[in-house]
Amino acid sequence: MSDLITPMSIRVAVTLRVPQKISGGGLTAEALAADTNTDPDVLERILLHLVSVGVLTRDDGGLFGLTRIGDQLLVDNDMAVNPDFLDLNTVVGRAELSFVRLPDVVRSGDTVAYSAQYGTSFWDDLGKEPSSAVHFDQVMAEGMKKRVQAIAQSYDWEALGSVVDVGGGNGTLLAGLLRAHPSLRGTVIDRDADPATRTFRDAGVSDRAKALSGSFLEPLPPGAGGYVVSRIQSDWNDAHVRTILGHCADAAGARGRVIVVDEFAAEAGARTDSETDLRMLMYYGGKERTMEQVHELAADVGLSVRSLRRAADWTIMELSPTPGD
Ligand SMILES: C[S@@+](CC[C@H](N)C(=O)[O-])C[C@H]1O[C@@H](n2cnc3c(N)ncnc32)[C@H](O)[C@@H]1O
Repeated sequence: MSDLITPMSIRVAVTLRVPQKISGGGLTAEALAADTNTDPDVLERILLHLVSVGVLTRDDGGLFGLTRIGDQLLVDNDMAVNPDFLDLNTVVGRAELSFVRLPDVVRSGDTVAYSAQYGTSFWDDLGKEPSSAVHFDQVMAEGMKKRVQAIAQSYDWEALGSVVDVGGGNGTLLAGLLRAHPSLRGTVIDRDADPATRTFRDAGVSDRAKALSGSFLEPLPPGAGGYVVSRIQSDWNDAHVRTILGHCADAAGARGRVIVVDEFAAEAGARTDSETDLRMLMYYGGKERTMEQVHELAADVGLSVRSLRRAADWTIMELSPTPGD
């Protein structure tokens, strides 16, 4: 549990595509080094370590192969681990390496490890890497597709008339809402509008949906009936969450709604997903929050909870301006 040797060796092997190269039949370290433009001696020592921990096999002829554990490092596996997240050439792979900044983060409390390590934010880096951006959207969309029907049915979206999905990614949620509610209209605002534009076209809802490139850290277009904030709050620190919810509240006005869709952390003190919580901290300076913690941030910008509904294993938190605020 405490050494970095195995995690780093696995990441290097994945980054060099060693699992793919040996999955069809064993290769020697020398052949792999020639294929990956790496040092044969160092590569062999890494591979031998992976043999010793049960990830690789090595036969008497020096050919390396995969064990059943090693098989999980192939992309088309049962996804016990996501190999793309181990590839150090991807933004998520790099983000994992920002954990070396944990000592600085614990001292300062507000260092964003990713930005400190790479001199740019996770989101800006993601934007520079189209294939990683597509992959990130796909991972988000996979989780969303499992719940979108429940979300569409658990709340009276139609009554809002129109919604803005703030940081709505590739538009999977909005497309699902529009398909379930034929009179609803909507807009996704995200850093890049193109992925959502494509989703709307493919879902046949382009006549009622549009996508805008923009930032929720800036004021949002006013006048929609609802402003949806799905799986955004845990990516940001408290000050930024107040900014985002505040922009939603301003744009929603007196009669609009702000609708937070999320899987909240267990109540404070209870067992929570500590790995995700620490990833949020290191990647973005964010955190896993309980419902109560989000209520408090919403209250700071004049919003109070109007209703709470379950949608599969997520919660729909409907917020509206606090009367008299
Ligand atoms: C965790 S994903 C959630 C996506 C989607 N709402 C969902 O629930 O599937 C966070 C989203 O925030 C977007 N994002 C990050 N910074 C942003 C900003 N400043 N303005 C707008 N969107 C942003 C990202 O591009 C990404 O799509």
